[in-house]
Amino acid sequence: MHTGSVGVLSILLSPSTILLSADLNMASILQKLITPLFSGPPELPRNKVTVVGVGQVGMACAVSILLRELTDELALVDVMEDKLKGEMMDLQHGSLLLCDGKLPHRGGDGWGPSAGGGEPAEPRPEKRQHLQTHRPSDRQIQPQLHHHRVDVLTYVTWKLSGLPKHRVIGSGTNLDSARFRFLMAEKLGIHPSSFNGWILGEHGDTSVPVWSGTNVAGVNLQTLNPEIGTENDEENWTETHKMVVDSAYEVIRLKGYTNWAIGLSVADLTESLIRNMSRIHPVSTMVQGMYGISDALPCVLNGGGVASVVNMTLTEDEVSQLQESASTLWDIQKDLQDV
Ligand SMILES: *[C@@H]1O[C@H](CO)[C@@H](O)[C@H](O)[C@H]1NC(C)=O
Ligand SMILES: *[C@@H]1O[C@H](CO)[C@@H](O)[C@H](O)[C@H]1NC(C)=O
Ligand SMILES: *[C@@H]1O[C@H](CO)[C@@H](O)[C@H](O)[C@H]1NC(C)=O
Repeated sequence: MHTGSVGVLSILLSPSTILLSADLNMASILQKLITPLFSGPPELPRNKVTVVGVGQVGMACAVSILLRELTDELALVDVMEDKLKGEMMDLQHGSLLLCDGKLPHRGGDGWGPSAGGGEPAEPRPEKRQHLQTHRPSDRQIQPQLHHHRVDVLTYVTWKLSGLPKHRVIGSGTNLDSARFRFLMAEKLGIHPSSFNGWILGEHGDTSVPVWSGTNVAGVNLQTLNPEIGTENDEENWTETHKMVVDSAYEVIRLKGYTNWAIGLSVADLTESLIRNMSRIHPVSTMVQGMYGISDALPCVLNGGGVASVVNMTLTEDEVSQLQESASTLWDIQKDLQDV
């Protein structure tokens, strides 16, 4: 795993229960200027995203989600109070330039449950508990996890959150697949959205490119070149998957961490969940995987979480690679049963 790319590992979706309290000490200018017409409780936001962790990755997720106007309320949570408050204020100062008009009744202060004060978001009790238990476990398990952290933390988060399995997802190979599509499309001179290909299994080194399913406009690349993705391929297409794996390390070497692509990728997942889109993403889930494990498989994501999983038509070789990738993960998860 790449040290920089762990910040938001699971998207926890919950109906908001935050009530915005009316400000009783209204300034006199405010009284003179504004005549209240309705004094009932304010309308609750319809959806809310909480980003736990305001490091480079968390903030890239937050900004990506804000720019795509996905949520009525975005809350930031971190144990580092100053950093949290600083990030929050910085975003609030940009609210005029960001808001999509859904938030004006809150004076642009829509980034935390404490809509009046501009204070750091105060997590709800169960969230705080989640945070407190999450952090030490995270630290405890890090040494033995190395590059396996993302998928394993999906498991840990599920265990600690008490949420049903289909409502906890890890970003899986959503980013790996995006990198793959970008690199393949670049070689083919087309837009990444026009190259269809999936990377499944574990995020990172042992991820599995599904060469048998790669296609452009329905034309299967493996039928054009049966050796695609193998060592015997004279065109060396497997190099692209190698680049997917290496490029994360390269970015980290160059800038110290990765954040923008993972942030955009998490926003993409968030969109499928919040907009109930039933789009398919390669995410890791604790819903029993087809190959006996929770690593990334193409899942249908909608408002309820993971709705279903696609039964891929894989070659025998791909299945065994997936199982290998899964068993690496399973070995680690076995050791975490008591977390
Ligand atoms: C394929 O590309 C990789 C990475 O650039 C290189 O190390 C390898 O030698 C190439 N293999 C062939 C058969 O060209
Ligand atoms: C979400 O999408 C599913 C599947 O298309 C549909 O059955 C459900 O009614 C939708 N839910 C909402 C709240 O729109
Ligand atoms: C997935 O499809 C294959 C055939 O394409 C079938 O053999 C297998 O049983 C299916 N798996 C599940 C879990 O349905």
